Amino acid sequence: MQSNQQVDRVLTGDRTTGKLHLGHYVGSLKNRIDMQYQYDTFILLADVQALTTHFEAPKEMGRHLRQITLDYLAAGINPEKVTIFVQSLVPEIAELTLFYSMFVTVNALRHNPTVKSEAADRGYDQLYYGFLGYPVSQAADITFCKATLVPVGDDQLPHIEQTRKIVRRFNELYAPVLLEPKAVVGEVPRLIGLDGRSKMSKSLGNAITLDASAQDVREKIRIAVTDTNRIHKSDPGNPEVCPVFTYHQAFASEGAEEIAAGCRSGTLGCVECKERVGKRINNLLEPMRETRRMYESAPHKVDEILIAGTERARNIGKETMREVREAMGLNYNFDNDGIRG
Ligand code: TRP
Repeated sequence: MQSNQQVDRVLTGDRTTGKLHLGHYVGSLKNRIDMQYQYDTFILLADVQALTTHFEAPKEMGRHLRQITLDYLAAGINPEKVTIFVQSLVPEIAELTLFYSMFVTVNALRHNPTVKSEAADRGYDQLYYGFLGYPVSQAADITFCKATLVPVGDDQLPHIEQTRKIVRRFNELYAPVLLEPKAVVGEVPRLIGLDGRSKMSKSLGNAITLDASAQDVREKIRIAVTDTNRIHKSDPGNPEVCPVFTYHQAFASEGAEEIAAGCRSGTLGCVECKERVGKRINNLLEPMRETRRMYESAPHKVDEILIAGTERARNIGKETMREVREAMGLNYNFDNDGIRG
């Protein structure tokens, strides 16, 4: 069974837990921007998945999803090409999640390595039902629109594998209506945070957000950790262990060799090296600032984009649910149109 869709459909998503930062840009956003003209691309604002860990702050979701949408648009996501939509406003995803949950075992979820390590990171000694089950909900995110490609970081691979299992099981139990998606894992390593210790992350306070001002960028880079063995400018540095050097590689790959040589020979000091990378980052962010200002002066535009994207997603969701119910024999049709019309 393969798709009769003309082009592959791509689905990716972000939990709506806060603004996006340079790590998101390098790790996923850039790739989405490159893919948007080639594929029918869907971007999910995963507010329900965010609630699995942020259920005490549901009111923040509305603000976050608008901020993130602004980040997408500023970075170059074209709303004419990409369907950006809100997870909680597509109830078909919740409905599918419930049907899938009947045949996914608790054991499979408990052994999911990403669920395990996230639970450990958060210090959960008890697992919430929604949190434990979020890979099932993620399978519904991917399959409700019959996405075939899912660009993700490698931490998400267990979820895609789980999705593929669900699809196979559903198709075998009922009828072959779902498509098995493929993960597309990016080659870029995760961007390290300014502390040089963990990956860039807003909650660790080691990130540069995409809406940072030029001044912010300079200040944050100024305090970023470098090769800790290099004390004086004339000391030979080791770019291989310097977090700031990874920024040169990520944002100015053409100039990175020269930087590395200057660092190794002790002719290029950390202050100048940082100034240079700060400039590169500001060059990247400057056009984003302009687009952001444009949207900020017309905030209804962002809402309109979300409404249009969510409507499109819902229509597709309704069609998939019609097929799913028919496959499962749940299309009771008590009246001619069916109660659900
Ligand atoms: N779990 C993903 C993350 O934490 C976000 C996400 C939710 C997602 N639904 C998805 C990613 C569907 C890809 C496909 O980054």
